[in-house]
Amino acid sequence: MKWWTLSLMAIATAAVNAADVQYAVVAFPPNGAGVAVSVGGQNHALAADSQVPNLFKGSAPAGDYQYVLTNGQNATPELPKRKLADGATSTGNEFFNRTHTTVDVPALPQAFNPVYPPLFTGFNKSNEVATIILQVNSTAFDALVKDPKQKGKAQVTSFAYVSSQEVFTFANTPSIETSGQSTKDFAKQSYAIDFNDLTPKGGQKSLFYGRTAVKLRAEATDPTQVREKLYLDCLAAAGATTLSGSFVRVFINNQPYGLYTLMDDASTHLIDNTTFGNGAEQGRDSVAYGNYSRAGSTRPLVDLFLKSPYYKGQFETILQTLVKRFFNPRVMQPRLEAWATLLKEDIEWDYSIPGHSPGTQNSFTVANFIANLNTTDGGMEGINQWITTRAKTLTQQLQFNDADDLPALGPYKQGARLDSNGNVVPNDGSSVTPGGSAPSGSNGAKGGTSGSSALTTSSLLVATMVVLATVFSL
Ligand SMILES: *[C@@H]1O[C@H](CO)[C@@H](O)[C@H](O)[C@H]1NC(C)=O
Ligand SMILES: *[C@@H]1O[C@H](CO)[C@@H](O)[C@H](O)[C@H]1NC(C)=O
Ligand SMILES: *[C@@H]1O[C@H](CO)[C@@H](O)[C@H](O)[C@H]1NC(C)=O
Ligand SMILES: *[C@@H]1O[C@H](CO)[C@@H](O)[C@H](O)[C@H]1NC(C)=O
Ligand SMILES: *[C@@H]1O[C@H](CO)[C@@H](O)[C@H](O)[C@H]1NC(C)=O
Ligand SMILES: *[C@@H]1O[C@H](CO)[C@@H](O)[C@H](O)[C@H]1NC(C)=O
Repeated sequence: MKWWTLSLMAIATAAVNAADVQYAVVAFPPNGAGVAVSVGGQNHALAADSQVPNLFKGSAPAGDYQYVLTNGQNATPELPKRKLADGATSTGNEFFNRTHTTVDVPALPQAFNPVYPPLFTGFNKSNEVATIILQVNSTAFDALVKDPKQKGKAQVTSFAYVSSQEVFTFANTPSIETSGQSTKDFAKQSYAIDFNDLTPKGGQKSLFYGRTAVKLRAEATDPTQVREKLYLDCLAAAGATTLSGSFVRVFINNQPYGLYTLMDDASTHLIDNTTFGNGAEQGRDSVAYGNYSRAGSTRPLVDLFLKSPYYKGQFETILQTLVKRFFNPRVMQPRLEAWATLLKEDIEWDYSIPGHSPGTQNSFTVANFIANLNTTDGGMEGINQWITTRAKTLTQQLQFNDADDLPALGPYKQGARLDSNGNVVPNDGSSVTPGGSAPSGSNGAKGGTSGSSALTTSSLLVATMVVLATVFSL
């Protein structure tokens, strides 16, 4: 069954002059202006893509380059001066006036096998900011944006997702609504997109990286905007959930909306279980992320484990493993520094956008972003500071050190992955880093097992993460 109804357009591979390079950039030129790439002082016009009109592509000679907006004889260059990677024949899809298309962001080492077999996809990117461009019914959408607390949806007439290596488009089926509760009081709203809301009954389901719905989280209360993404990445590295997120910049009806966390919608199935097969979804459903991410509602779960001598031992073993593997400044600080490089310009852009909704407009700045990644700023504890203090307290309390001296993890072959045609295929273990044994003492919890023991293991992992990182879940 061909369920992948997105169009996946490879970076152009058409025959070109051997010395030529394929350039591609997402840009929003003012009315009447064009986009070109300037190489060696020469402008080479780029053509708007037929499916994503804001994606400008073309071939030009290799060399140091800059993208420019052209208007008659006038050309306005972007700030960054770009260099081609050695031997590159294409740039991938870049973004006008953003220095870094991808940044080498160190991965989080995997602490345990995923409890529930994941569908491995490119949804959880950490090293780039993709772009989402929406055209929506403006009558319906403007009403939602002006009054976020009212219930209502607007039809998305065109959805485009452009990452450095992929372009996905949908037409006419998705709907968008405002999302979240406390965040409705902010000028920058969160949104939810459902890809099948308007699909006729019995019609073929549209899936985006295997998802039927996604959230765009505004992160309006977090000056760094990375806490939620980091928390999701930590949960995945702990083996606890397969909820994922990545950074995206969002444009709706040609207006900038800002930097968002593109995130799984925990209330829906991640993927169509008839596609995924094997029933693994059932266990995952019961692991409601929403129930674990808020300190208030999870504390009872933590307390429950700590009251039992049996689980307390397991809890502490997991805690030590997570600290040794990744929850320490040795692993986290380089990741935060790489994110500072990756996100700085998009954060600056985001904080310059007047909110579209009537609520509170934050006054965060790039300086707040940089400072709070590391240290206390505006009364909010720094992320690196929190991790450093937390790891130190725990190593002292439980008398261990944070060196990763644990046995190496073997290959992980469970779960499934999306191949380049969008088909779900078995995971062969070759492209996946997670691996190793399930937390000790939880025999039934190897990947693939559904039911109560997997749920217990997953709950233990999540409870441990709550103890480690409450500060991330604002
Ligand atoms: C590029 O971004 C900078 C801010 O970093 C801004 O001052 C400048 O106007 C932008 N250039 C163009 C051509 O948009
Ligand atoms: C998340 O991304 C990493 C690479 O950044 C990849 O190795 C891993 O398989 C991904 N996980 C899922 C569940 O897609
Ligand atoms: C846009 O939404 C409004 C309000 O929901 C609706 O009345 C109108 O028919 C929609 N327009 C189109 C073109 O679908
Ligand atoms: C898919 O999930 C739904 C709801 O959880 C369930 O009713 C259905 O039986 C599942 N289908 C398969 C093939 O597992
Ligand atoms: C949390 O769990 C309770 C009880 O299991 C359930 O009723 C509630 O819907 C869950 N909340 C979320 C956000 O998943
Ligand atoms: C991070 O904060 C600590 C104090 O909390 C400070 O000593 C250190 O210099 C800071 N690092 C950076 C890169 O700002």
